[in-house]
Amino acid sequence: MRIDKFLADNSIGTRKEIKAIVKAGRITVNGERAGDPGMHIDPEKDIISLDGSVIEYERFHYYMLNKPAGTVSSTREGASVTVVELLAAENVKNLSPVGRLDKDTEGLLILTDDGALLHDLISPSKHVGKEYLVHTEKPLSDSDIRTLEGGVDIGDDKPTLPAHAVTREDGLHLTIYEGRFHQVKRMLEAVGNKVLYLKRLRMGDLTLDPSLAPGEYRRLTPEELSLLR
Ligand code: URA
Repeated sequence: MRIDKFLADNSIGTRKEIKAIVKAGRITVNGERAGDPGMHIDPEKDIISLDGSVIEYERFHYYMLNKPAGTVSSTREGASVTVVELLAAENVKNLSPVGRLDKDTEGLLILTDDGALLHDLISPSKHVGKEYLVHTEKPLSDSDIRTLEGGVDIGDDKPTLPAHAVTREDGLHLTIYEGRFHQVKRMLEAVGNKVLYLKRLRMGDLTLDPSLAPGEYRRLTPEELSLLR
């Protein structure tokens, strides 16, 4: 692998910045100064350092974003900012959100360039649980809760899979094991209610870091990553 690609994969800078860093002699390969950005290295064996600090090779990148309302999870929709654009400073190519949240939905969104993990997490057969905090127009009755939990007809071929629903002080906590289009909103509509606010709190065993304000993100820790695998 070229050393400039290695450095770009590890978010050291843009191609232009990396060229300047290498030319300035700030990168060493096994203790020897590297002067050529096109130099070939073996990321598994060679020890690459920047200003004397070893750069651990990361083939893939994993982030947790607290998605703010008003941003879109897919490609640009008019003037709306995409979630990938929020992480532009990371300079990671091929970053994709794991599943989609509606434009007005907030909360946990994982972004990665690891296509295999992404595929696994959104695969309908895996039934990864997703917990949402839901504020509704009207209070929910016990019978509504039972209906949501048992599976509800939202106008698709099949009713929704059994879910977990509980009302707490901050609102309804609804955990679903599928990812149908506007699923939570349609489930609440099916019991004669309306979603006023929606936030994803958890995906599988990974919980949104409460210290992340909407729009903030950080890398997943190795422990968090292992929760997703
Ligand atoms: N269900 C919805 O209705 N919207 C979301 O953004 C996520 C789940």
